[in-house]
Amino acid sequence: MSALVVAVDGPSGSGKSSVSREAARRLGLAYLDTGAMYRAATWWCLHTGVPLDDQAAVARCVRELPLDQGVDPDAPHVVVAGTDIADAIRETAISAAVSAVATNLAVRDELRRRQRAAIATQSVATSFSHGRGIVAEGRDITTVVAPDADVRILLTASQEARLARRARDVHGSDDEAAVAATHDQVLRRDADDSTVAQFHVAADGVVTLDSSDLDFEETVEAVLAIVAQVTGRD
Ligand code: DC
Repeated sequence: MSALVVAVDGPSGSGKSSVSREAARRLGLAYLDTGAMYRAATWWCLHTGVPLDDQAAVARCVRELPLDQGVDPDAPHVVVAGTDIADAIRETAISAAVSAVATNLAVRDELRRRQRAAIATQSVATSFSHGRGIVAEGRDITTVVAPDADVRILLTASQEARLARRARDVHGSDDEAAVAATHDQVLRRDADDSTVAQFHVAADGVVTLDSSDLDFEETVEAVLAIVAQVTGRD
């Protein structure tokens, strides 16, 4: 059976990371979280003291990023220069700074090159024990990184649903105060990210999945149903 490449894009709070990871697990594929790469790049720039508004210095820094990112959905790891930063890259300081790095076009070129290489590796070799193929998720996977993926999905959700999910992730609650605390960051980040990647409207051939009224399990099942329908595989 040939390798299967599944590309998933979507805005913050659409649930694409957790859903893509679980779909990869059930399909027996590798999993690539490209947002983690932008976050790792941001961590590395801050760690090495590069000012994020110095575009040329940031680009140089990211070209040298010594990133080792796992693609096993059961044990994803993000290691930079020997330090496991999987938790550190989820901290508020990184979330607040990451758009400055992700909107740097030279950074995008470098990380897209690495993303394509990771996808190609999983498509032709069996270095990862699960099998051949990968679920890759981000903001520009269906359009720029892997426009020829077998399955391309835009996972969307209403603004209300996305803010509530992000509030639950970050504050453990989706009450009014928790939603208010995440509101500006989520919307500002999406607005900034939208300047360099188009992930609010599905491109030609991309299937839109609106998860506003679906829970996690229903969304995973909907992704698997799209994969089965598009590929004829169960
Ligand atoms: O999905 P996330 O929140 O972990 O993404 C982190 C940041 O990286 C976010 O600002 C969007 C950006 N990003 C991007 O520009 N392109 C991608 N393919 C993935 C993420």
